Amino acid sequence: AHTYRITLLPGDGIGPEIITVAVDVLKVIAGQFDISINFTEAPIGGAAIDATGNPLPDDSLKTCQDSDAVLLAAIGGYKWDNLPRHQRPETGLLGLRAGLGLFANLRPAKILPQLIDASSLKREIVEGVDIMVVRELTGGIYFGQPKGIFTTETGEKRGVNTMAYTEGEIDRIGRVAFETARKRGGKLCSVDKANVLEVSQLWRDRITNLASEYPDIELSHLYVDNAAMQLVRAPKQFDTIVTGNLFGDILSDAAAMLTGSIGMLPSASLGENSPGVFEPVHGSAPDIAGEDKANPLAQVLSGAMMLRYGLNQPQAAERIEQAVLMVLDKGYRTGDIMSPGMTQLGCRAMGEALIEAIDLLKS
Ligand code: NAD
Ligand code: IPM
Ligand code: MN
Repeated sequence: AHTYRITLLPGDGIGPEIITVAVDVLKVIAGQFDISINFTEAPIGGAAIDATGNPLPDDSLKTCQDSDAVLLAAIGGYKWDNLPRHQRPETGLLGLRAGLGLFANLRPAKILPQLIDASSLKREIVEGVDIMVVRELTGGIYFGQPKGIFTTETGEKRGVNTMAYTEGEIDRIGRVAFETARKRGGKLCSVDKANVLEVSQLWRDRITNLASEYPDIELSHLYVDNAAMQLVRAPKQFDTIVTGNLFGDILSDAAAMLTGSIGMLPSASLGENSPGVFEPVHGSAPDIAGEDKANPLAQVLSGAMMLRYGLNQPQAAERIEQAVLMVLDKGYRTGDIMSPGMTQLGCRAMGEALIEAIDLLKS
């Protein structure tokens, strides 16, 4: 049997609740597929600040580096919102991404037929939507220099961030995107703001250049404002989207809502020679933390992405995805995806329903 070392980063808010469900699911799946998984838990985010004063303790990063894959829940919360930047939970997450070199963030937004009525958009708009957002994750305005709050000559404060991409950074995320499009519908839309920003002009030039290596892929370009509008106007026009860090953050939340709830969407963050981090697109949902209300499905589906992209166990991944469809077919819903006639469950009960479904799928 294959043995894998998985680092668990439960983080804050609903994190511990949803990761518990995912771990229970992974344990049952491992048993069914003759896989052995050793889980090691490490602190990150607010939980790590409370324990050590540091949102990404060296030991946590090291544990992640030494593992085959990392399953992260979410970080952040009101309690830590007013700390200095280097002590914020979000800084820990960015440090993890940078520390592992996870430049490619895959965020699939696929509408499940069972959840069409949970979408805030009309059935005919969202039916059949299947989009993959490829978000650059270790560059752009999140990491560009200079950054900081400086004092001008007149004594006024001035906040600064810098949106910057090198050719190399654009090319490597571009390649991931073209390859991703090749395995999907063969269409790639690059999103930028090349009409205004120099950094985007370079982005568009490089992506256009790369296209000659991928003659089978149909490449198009959109400005980010138009892309946001098109995503809610006619989302079915999109197959694969590639964009920078900030635009990808925003557009993937918008794409998430097409599918009914951000509580459904998993993601994979991948680098070149490092373990991937698999995490929901949503945050720590402090407004519902500790109430057993969270939807654990984005976390569970992140576990499936971990099996597929991180551990090369596609059949095990598929069984998790089938189990999710099965519980939805049974009418089970958490509050965020509830619709009339369905049965509302809490986070834990949803986990139990998933385990039952996985047991059924085995026979
Ligand atoms: P959020 O995604 O945490 O929550 C937005 C809304 O969606 C809330 O109403 C929340 O209750 C709901 N929601 C999110 N996930 C849900 C789930 N699984 N089930 C049911 N409902 C769910 O975004 P926010 O409120 O803007 O941010 C909260 C904190 O999370 C902040 O500190 C932010 O920095 C952090 N954050 C972390 C990550 C991450 O760890 N990757 C991502 C986004 C935000
Ligand atoms: C995400 C989050 C993070 C981001 C924050 C918490 C740093 O919004 O994973 O989408 O902006 O990348
Ligand atoms: Mn985000």
